[in-house]
Amino acid sequence: IVPPIIDALQRPLRDLRISVTDRCNFRCRYCMPEEVFGPNYQFLPQEKLLSLQELERLTRIFISLGVEKVRITGGEPLLNKDIGKIISLVRQIAGVKDIAVTTNGSLLKHKAKELRDSGLERITVSLDSLDDERFGAMNGRGFSAKGVLEGIDAAASAGLSVKVNMVVQKGVNDQDIVPMAKYFRERGHILRFVEFMDVGNSNGWNLKHVVPSKEIIEIIHREMPLARVESNYTGEVATRYRYQGSQQEIGLISSVTQAFCSTCTRARLSAEGHLYTCLFASDKTDLLSVIRGGASDEDLRSLIVQVWGKRQDRYSETRLAQTTPAHKVEMSHIGG
Ligand code: GTP
Ligand code: 5AD
Ligand code: SF4
Ligand code: SF4
Repeated sequence: IVPPIIDALQRPLRDLRISVTDRCNFRCRYCMPEEVFGPNYQFLPQEKLLSLQELERLTRIFISLGVEKVRITGGEPLLNKDIGKIISLVRQIAGVKDIAVTTNGSLLKHKAKELRDSGLERITVSLDSLDDERFGAMNGRGFSAKGVLEGIDAAASAGLSVKVNMVVQKGVNDQDIVPMAKYFRERGHILRFVEFMDVGNSNGWNLKHVVPSKEIIEIIHREMPLARVESNYTGEVATRYRYQGSQQEIGLISSVTQAFCSTCTRARLSAEGHLYTCLFASDKTDLLSVIRGGASDEDLRSLIVQVWGKRQDRYSETRLAQTTPAHKVEMSHIGG
């Protein structure tokens, strides 16, 4: 094991989340509202994106600094036509213990087998409702829940283990909590409920729209009694519960009501090769320019060590005390 580098708050660097495109075919209101990401929105041109070699090289360097877990995100990562190649490249790097992909599932039906053949073992699918009308409104483009469910079935048939993330918003999809729990309990996939967050600069977030995890637990427990399960590892984002009398689990991601910054070991790399040390960061380090300026691996390594060494981010722990809105990175640039 490589000893990880440590930040200013004593947190090691263990995870790398790589966005492989800033584009998405959905327009979820909480992430890419149509008014902002409309027909004239300028997405990144190909030449501004990390090439496969650059992505492989940076990942190798991050691994040499202690990263063990890599998550591929977007935008929607399956829109990147090289997604299979990216997974095989990352898999081949010695020291990678875990690779996962976060997807909206809309293209999964057709891509599941290619992903599995590239060496992927697990996938996380975002799905906020089983109701086509509500889901279509939430994703802003009228995509049906059925299409995503077929994608999930295809992933499971291809041999991928599947987790599902549901962002819960009060008054929008809280009526879907129990139906979603029942559906995925029967299918045998882990469903995680994610508290709605104030990501980016345009999602109109308000604390009143958050359903605290504690309430979600109570709502489910009334229908299907739950029992607490120990964390798999320190710093695990989701709090785990299982249905009593069964091994089937759910998870709660309580980034608003029980922030987990004190154990946050995650670095994020945008599709354009910018390094962010927090989901809510306003500062970034442009690694792509440094690479294209001719930096050696050693130069890149020292730069990352320096950036991580200064890291003091703990946004979710201070969110409610914030007085002035900061200008934050958009979620679709760093993939959540
Ligand atoms: P596993 O590797 O399967 O344990 O997943 P994970 O815990 O890494 O969670 P995942 O990547 O599926 O993240 C789920 C959601 O949790 C994200 O979409 C975010 O909404 C939220 N989340 C994940 N990491 C962070 C983080 O570092 N900070 C905050 N505030 N939220 C996060
Ligand atoms: N709050 C919480 N999670 C969000 N995601 C996107 N926007 C938000 C938000 N405002 C997460 C969802 C989705 C992933 C890509 O990002 O979990 O599954
Ligand atoms: Fe696309 Fe995911 Fe953002 Fe929705 S949350 S717009 S699916 S990147
Ligand atoms: Fe990590 Fe920032 Fe999320 Fe806190 S808010 S857990 S520091 S990414």
